[in-house]
Amino acid sequence: MQNELILNYDPKSTISETIRTLRTNLQFSSVDKKIRTILITSSMPGEGKSFIASNLAVAFAQSGNKVLLVDCDIRKGRQHYIFGSHNQKGLSNLLLEKVAENYKNYIKKTKIENLSVMFRGVTPPNPSELLGSEKNKTLISILKEQYDVVIFDSAPISDSLTDSLIMSTLVDGVVIVAAQKKTPISAVNATKKSLQNVKANILGIVLNQADTQSRNYYGHYYE
Ligand SMILES: Nc1ncnc2c1ncn2[C@@H]1O[C@H](COP(=O)(O)OP(=O)(O)OP(=O)(O)O)[C@@H](O)[C@H]1O
Ligand SMILES: [Mg+2]
Repeated sequence: MQNELILNYDPKSTISETIRTLRTNLQFSSVDKKIRTILITSSMPGEGKSFIASNLAVAFAQSGNKVLLVDCDIRKGRQHYIFGSHNQKGLSNLLLEKVAENYKNYIKKTKIENLSVMFRGVTPPNPSELLGSEKNKTLISILKEQYDVVIFDSAPISDSLTDSLIMSTLVDGVVIVAAQKKTPISAVNATKKSLQNVKANILGIVLNQADTQSRNYYGHYYE
């Protein structure tokens, strides 16, 4: 595994503490309905979606939930890299098969207790079509029954791609990641608007600061 899984290798760091707070906030973000499927998205590439998604999944697993992390950035997803695996088959391959019969073949256990992953799979010519398919809906409802929490890492919204907007309508809630000092507020607002237009349930915005040079991790959560 790469050392991006900071909750695993440095659980006492500030960012680990912040991600645990995010987990707690998400657990309490809805009084009436438990949030079980969560999409992590952002406006632009490189704002920290995959970093937050993987570490948030670890945080939920560490508190005793049965967790699945799904890489639904099927064009460029790199969760297989974060978890030190090859991008063998994954979501895109599964969506071409019979989902109910085969989904277990695409789920891998990780070294972290309670945490399994489904990688993105081979990049297909028609990602949006696959994500918008009935099969994907069926898959999400099956996964929701099998796991306490399912976290979906996704593609940025501003690439004019509909992938994440489609996914946002299929999950219980969406977390927007924004890179502090980097993401223009106009971009965050545009993302929020796009998500509102499709009636996604926005749970909150995470301000992430990626300072890999100084390893000065930092994060905030806003609701
Ligand atoms: N809070 C953080 N602290 C340290 N490093 C971080 C943090 N957030 C992100 N990074 C690093 O910044 C880089 C980009 O982050 P990441 O891949 O998570 O972004 P992304 O939004 O998923 O990008 P893409 O749109 O390409 O999928 C990675 O190397 C990641 O490890
Ligand atoms: Mg990513």
